[in-house]
Amino acid sequence: MFELTGRTALVTGAGQGVGGGIAEALAAQGAQVAVNDLDPQRAEDKAKALRDAGHNAHAVPFDVTDHGAVRDAVRAFERSVGPVDILVNNVGNAGSGEFRPRPFRESDPADWRRFTEVNLFGVMNCVKAVIDGMSARRYGRIITIASGSGVVGQAIGVSLYAAAKGGAIAFMRHLAMESAADGVTANTIALGLIDPAASGREGAQVREMAARLPVGRIGLPSDPAAMCAYLASNEASWITGQTLHLNGGSYTS
Ligand SMILES: NC(=O)c1ccc[n+]([C@@H]2O[C@H](COP(=O)([O-])OP(=O)(O)OC[C@H]3O[C@@H](n4cnc5c(N)ncnc54)[C@H](O)[C@@H]3O)[C@@H](O)[C@H]2O)c1
Repeated sequence: MFELTGRTALVTGAGQGVGGGIAEALAAQGAQVAVNDLDPQRAEDKAKALRDAGHNAHAVPFDVTDHGAVRDAVRAFERSVGPVDILVNNVGNAGSGEFRPRPFRESDPADWRRFTEVNLFGVMNCVKAVIDGMSARRYGRIITIASGSGVVGQAIGVSLYAAAKGGAIAFMRHLAMESAADGVTANTIALGLIDPAASGREGAQVREMAARLPVGRIGLPSDPAAMCAYLASNEASWITGQTLHLNGGSYTS
């Protein structure tokens, strides 16, 4: 079940965290993995770790927000290695680095653009680079990692992130309608809190959040990774256009 041998997967932002876990899971199912990250060293380190574990992996660094760079990198990879069958849009930013989570009234248009570029346009750029090939070959699996905040009100200061993730959820739903007849599925994982080792958050606040979840723990990278392995597989050909909530029971739909 969920065998991916012979398939090639491109996972964005796979140098660490959730994306790293997804790359490991797809490789373990037999897929060849293109490990993307903005940080070339991070991409190479993860690809090497996968190769050292006996898998087939390549570092493919690019910035998902740069349309031309995404197009060129995917084209070069497909020419030299082979076509991408599975795309996992994992890159996203809720508020680290120059992305500052803050109430909308304190934001400005530069913030709006920054959050939208990475959390929504990044998804579109990557889909655009692979969708024609997938459709022509009549096989494709597109998975986007979004957030529960794109569906329900959750916290103060995440409106820009949530708006972009909500946009990605709607985009994927309609991409699924446009692509279904070509054998290409498009599904979204609306993710809840993942382990601090993957997210950089830690401490009492996280423990308190875990205690409030029905299952009593926050998520691990292996949780979304397992769902991606299923969604990427042949067996998942009848699921498309869905937003799957993966959150320890904190929200049900
Ligand atoms: N960690 C959580 O608790 C959580 C919860 C809900 C949703 N999510 C979503 O899961 C996804 C992964 O989150 P994470 O916590 O593992 O992130 P992370 O910040 O730990 O890792 C993201 C990786 O993406 C890379 N990256 C950032 N911008 C990039 C760009 N423009 N182009 C290419 N690579 C880029 C980074 O270098 C990094 O290696 C995101 O979409 C996030 O919104 C995470």
